[in-house]
Amino acid sequence: MSRIHEALKKAEEQRVASQGGRPVEPVQPADAAVAEPLAATPPAPQGTTASVGASIPSFGSPYTLDTLLARCPQGRWSPDRKTMLFFNPEEQEYGNEEFRTLRSRLYQIREKQSLKKVLVTSALPKEGKSFVAANLAQVMVRQEGRRALLIDSDLRGSRLHEALGTSSSPGLSDYLLGEKDEFAVMQRGSMENLFFIPSGRSIGNPAELVANGRTRFLLNRVEPLFDWIIIDSPPAVPVSDAGLLANYCDGVLMVVRSNATPFDVARKARQEFRDKHLVGVVLNGVSTESSYTQYYYATYGRTNGRHESQG
Ligand SMILES: Nc1ncnc2c1ncn2[C@@H]1O[C@H](COP(=O)(O)OP(=O)(O)OP(=O)(O)O)[C@@H](O)[C@H]1O
Ligand SMILES: [Mg+2]
Repeated sequence: MSRIHEALKKAEEQRVASQGGRPVEPVQPADAAVAEPLAATPPAPQGTTASVGASIPSFGSPYTLDTLLARCPQGRWSPDRKTMLFFNPEEQEYGNEEFRTLRSRLYQIREKQSLKKVLVTSALPKEGKSFVAANLAQVMVRQEGRRALLIDSDLRGSRLHEALGTSSSPGLSDYLLGEKDEFAVMQRGSMENLFFIPSGRSIGNPAELVANGRTRFLLNRVEPLFDWIIIDSPPAVPVSDAGLLANYCDGVLMVVRSNATPFDVARKARQEFRDKHLVGVVLNGVSTESSYTQYYYATYGRTNGRHESQG
């Protein structure tokens, strides 16, 4: 049984147990699992550790790091420290270590495939997409010299800006409408090397806007400036935005909330993203008594076109 499947099954068992019922026997997944050992420390990505002030090769982008720093001045954020785990100076929060492990696994996957733009999604609302996206972006920049861009692409019910304690606009929707440029919608807060594009002002046609071609354009323009681009999305089952966004990303990370996500729903969402570079599943909110880690369980990557477990 693959680690992904095991994670989904575990979430279902916990959900059913919490409702006093019996777990539903899940259907076996088609993919084969190959477990691999974890590296203690993630390898440094190549050519991505330019120091402040240095120029970055453009690869089609007109921008350098100087442009980024000059056009995106440092502002003030008031993050919610209960859920933004890495803003806490003591760093004693539950979950920090799990996010470090998740980072390590993403670097492992990056050794085998190109992986910089990661979409974080889930089947249903409130599974912890924004929580995972924000903390993943934070843990990435805890490593010296690594720069991350966090994008709130949930144009329907964005709340990432609230968790970071900043404004929601101008942001992505303003950019997609052609009203602002990249740097006018990008923020920089107190955490070194962490940049943020909020959702922007509310609009009535999010799916059309996300698919209008400017999303890909934006990602291409800013990609050379960052080591990681983490994109928070709306839930995948009720609306199509996440599926569209996945086409512009190198990898999709699917969040499954323990005790909450029905197995069939998670499996359906997983199938939807299977051909869109699904790199892993994060089992979120696992109880401390469980032998599973609290926030995350397994990631897996593709090798030679075949999904393989790395968990
Ligand atoms: N592992 C966790 N530990 C503590 N709080 C969590 C955890 N995961 C999520 N939360 C909290 O649960 C709430 C819902 O999480 P979040 O907003 O990340 O879900 P979401 O999937 O992004 O929801 P939506 O679909 O509405 O965008 C938030 O208040 C978040 O801070
Ligand atoms: Mg969210």
